Amino acid sequence: VTTNRIVASSEVEQSYIMIKPDGVQRGLVGEIISRFEKKGFLLKGLKLFQCPKELAQEHYKDLSERPFFPKLIEYITSGPVVCMAWEGAGVVASARKLIGATNPLQAEPGTIRGDLAVQTGRNVVHGSDSADNGKREIALWFKEGELAQWESVHTPWLI
Ligand code: PPS
Repeated sequence: VTTNRIVASSEVEQSYIMIKPDGVQRGLVGEIISRFEKKGFLLKGLKLFQCPKELAQEHYKDLSERPFFPKLIEYITSGPVVCMAWEGAGVVASARKLIGATNPLQAEPGTIRGDLAVQTGRNVVHGSDSADNGKREIALWFKEGELAQWESVHTPWLI
């Protein structure tokens, strides 16, 4: 009866989390992954990847009319990114909280951007803004077979 309680309050979903080139270049990969691991989400996909321009444009297509779009594409393709698929109950909203506000100067201390970044144009990490976008982005960045099928060994003990 109690076994479903943890997931019942919120749907199990997936979020696409990406460490941007500045996060990789600054040696923050371990630190950022660690925050999601410690929170208790399940890592389903992980790769270091040099993003082609077309993929960056597709990922950020809703922003194509914004003045910063060309700079954003240049930034995301300027070096390797770390692509991740994280799974868990409420992971989309929770990951956004862990990441913090878009402008790092407004991000709370304790969040990734609040602790590790200064500029919006170098805000070290991306997280999906909805469960639907989580699905869309994971399908965009990962090929079939790249996502692992596994459950955390900790889950039975926690419940
Ligand atoms: S919006 O539409 O203004 O509310 O956009 P927002 O959700 O705040 O941000 C969408 C993504 O655009 C990035 N962004 C920028 N990049 C570079 N320069 C500037 N000035 C800039 N402003 C916003 C922002 O980091 C978001 O990217 P992701 O990767 O989703 O975090």
